[in-house]
Amino acid sequence: MTNLDDLEALAEIDPHDARRVLAEFPAQCRRASTLRAAPPPGIGTPRVVVVAGMGGSAAGGDLLAACAADAVDVPVLVHRGYGLPALAGPDALVIACSYSGDTAEVLSAFDAAVTRRVPVVALTAGGALAQRAAAAGRPRVTLPGGLMPRMALGYLLLPAVALLEGCGVTVATAAEVDEAVAAVESLAPELVPARPSADNEAKRLALSIGDRLPVIYGGPTTGAAAYRWKTDVEENAKRFALAGTLPEMNHNEIEAWQGPAAKGLHAVLLRDAAEPPEIAQRFHILRDMIGPSAGGLSEARGRGAGRLARLLTLAYLGQWTSYYLAVLRGRDPWSVPLLDEFKRRVRRPSP
Ligand code: PA5
Repeated sequence: MTNLDDLEALAEIDPHDARRVLAEFPAQCRRASTLRAAPPPGIGTPRVVVVAGMGGSAAGGDLLAACAADAVDVPVLVHRGYGLPALAGPDALVIACSYSGDTAEVLSAFDAAVTRRVPVVALTAGGALAQRAAAAGRPRVTLPGGLMPRMALGYLLLPAVALLEGCGVTVATAAEVDEAVAAVESLAPELVPARPSADNEAKRLALSIGDRLPVIYGGPTTGAAAYRWKTDVEENAKRFALAGTLPEMNHNEIEAWQGPAAKGLHAVLLRDAAEPPEIAQRFHILRDMIGPSAGGLSEARGRGAGRLARLLTLAYLGQWTSYYLAVLRGRDPWSVPLLDEFKRRVRRPSP
């Protein structure tokens, strides 16, 4: 296993410099918080918001929906797939998110919105989505390019927060956005490769997980971050990971924590400073019940006062943890060859 404090070894395993992109995430968030749709959508408060995205480009929508749940009376749904759900009508707002702008499902959602006369805003760095938005005269938030979509989380989340604010849907106030960016800024130096393992939470988490299967559990709010951790582990470290949410997993998945197989699992509980007492109680019981049979168990928390800050910092911690899990096993955290090949085959015309 790679020594995570050996910076030369990291440079060899990570030739695309994903570590620099992650270290620059605070600057990305700062810039992202200034990005706006052009032209402005000029619509009133929508009845429902549908964020259409896949993979890394859906992650911003998940965090947005998690922040929105208790804060606004407009439902925010994340749509992963072709077309649009039937509830997306002319009084809805669709945010078509694709970092590359070339994801088939999101293009299909954008086209469905145009056909059904649903207000739609494209959130993209370019590709066919940018072209279609221009051709259809629909607003676009232009994202800076050159990143892997999953490492562009700031760009895929914060402009959407501003977009909704402009439509009267305040998922997070400007002060809460500022606080979230400041929280990421203060966390970053604690997680970068130059910070030794003894004093680096992401390295310590990766070392504790080691070769075990990570099973990430969140509560009602941090469940979105748990799913994001899982997908980051899969894409960055090229390893399986599981994610679940309390209280639902108490009604099914808990049963799987029996027997010798549990020794091969490492649970990571994503806690939240504002979790209700009944959820805190469930986490305590879960610890008690699965702790003895699990191969390992860790807890992690986001930073900051606001929900946006806590979720963004928790997701950022997951990004670094999955990064270190990748380099531990000598896997390039940047490239995703199977994902790319799958997209190539989908694009190929059928014989
Ligand atoms: O993180 C990734 O690279 C993927 O999960 C992509 O986000 C996903 O395949 C969709 O592509 P895009 O984000 O460009 O729409």
